[in-house]
Amino acid sequence: MPSANLTSVQQYLKQNYARFLDELCAYVRFPSISAQESHRKDMTACAQWAVQHCRAIGLDSQLHPTAGHPIILVRTPRSGSSPKPHFLVYGHYDVQPPEPLELWESPPFEPHIRNNQLFARGAVDNKGQHFAHLKAVEAYLKTGTELPCDLTFLIEGEEEVGSNHLSDFLKKNRQALRCDAVVISDNGIPDLKHPALTYALRGIAAVVIKLHGPSRDLHSGIFGGSVDNPAMALCQMLAQLRDKRGRIAIPGFYDDVAPLSSYERKQLARVPFSEPAYRKFLGVPQLFGERGFTPIEQRTARPTIEINGLTSGYQGEGSKTIVPAWASAKLTFRLVPNQTLAKARQLITQHLKRICPPTVRLTIDVGHGGEPYLVSPKGAQAQAALRALKAAFGREPVLLREGGSIPIVNDFKQVLGADTLLLGLSLPDDNPHSPNEKFDLECFRRGMLMGAHLWQELSQSR
Ligand code: BES
Ligand code: MN
Repeated sequence: MPSANLTSVQQYLKQNYARFLDELCAYVRFPSISAQESHRKDMTACAQWAVQHCRAIGLDSQLHPTAGHPIILVRTPRSGSSPKPHFLVYGHYDVQPPEPLELWESPPFEPHIRNNQLFARGAVDNKGQHFAHLKAVEAYLKTGTELPCDLTFLIEGEEEVGSNHLSDFLKKNRQALRCDAVVISDNGIPDLKHPALTYALRGIAAVVIKLHGPSRDLHSGIFGGSVDNPAMALCQMLAQLRDKRGRIAIPGFYDDVAPLSSYERKQLARVPFSEPAYRKFLGVPQLFGERGFTPIEQRTARPTIEINGLTSGYQGEGSKTIVPAWASAKLTFRLVPNQTLAKARQLITQHLKRICPPTVRLTIDVGHGGEPYLVSPKGAQAQAALRALKAAFGREPVLLREGGSIPIVNDFKQVLGADTLLLGLSLPDDNPHSPNEKFDLECFRRGMLMGAHLWQELSQSR
């Protein structure tokens, strides 16, 4: 194999490409912004559209309401007496808020195609990527080509706000969702010449810390000097959390960090990288990162601390002379195998309490979190995925770790017992979460092809 009968699947994909593009445009027109209450109706409308669309393809499709946004479950027709392998494809129809709107060259929910790129919020993150998988399956069904496996698409509406109701849904539907592997295309590749299997993701631990000083903002001339300034105290604490090269200065934080094997480092070194181009792309005067690691290692395989937001005192026009009553910071730590969320949280809170001066009162809010993820790239399923990538992109794929987090991946392992194969279709300049998000239509085309090959390869890999 790949069997001769994929010819008709491929032909179908080619012949119907223009229609697929129209359909994807219809899908991204829904402003399915999970974070904004005012878009609740658009969320449901979008999910209903997807369900109807899948039904028209001949897929058994259902909408499952949750306390948050609905979950879409789509199944290929189950047939035959002998059990086939079962794979789950995960995606999300919710999108990030489009603001700041003035930076978009075309409105976020009015899809535009320029230079073979589809511009719209949600185009790549994640509607276009799971839509490619759906179209590959449509091609199987409509050409009467037998799928060598059963497939279930699980498309949620809360990925961008923490997947709050998905974990319970998995537990309640454990039996129906039990599968041989999960496939996700919600991540990236370096470029079209380097298709990639991502075998590791970082975890995440979010904390909000607040320092409370005087009971109200004080005149800084009258009182300054006799009371501590919470903003200053916060900066001094934050400055102690990281050394000058980005290593986290919390005792014990690196104890469980698994070193990169020489095989992995060799694989990561195959990823094309130019420091000046990267620097220019990001608009920074110089790169920054932990000594002894390459930039790609630093951003995918090493823990980090980031300040996401820093708030205190007067932010308005002109000046105001005060000692602010409080100061706060939103922090996230990215975690890597074999760190655990529980231990990281404990080390972080313990250390913050230890370094907090007695002149202010500290409160810590433990926010969302997710465990790091790693699956061996040497396993049979990973090898099958690599073959599908090669067939679809016509290039030797690379092995990647990614710095981003998809916390639900660990629930797939814990609840369903399944490993996840991450087969991203996003390019580095696709602007997910940013203005002018786009999906490269060559990635769309190759993604559909990859889907077509994947089920053949994976089904034979058991
Ligand atoms: N798809 C991304 C995560 C991602 C991006 C993984 C690139 C690998 C490569 C996802 O939609 C996302 O943005 N996740 C958040 C998770 C967080 C809110 C819990 C992230 O990584 O910040
Ligand atoms: Mn995202």
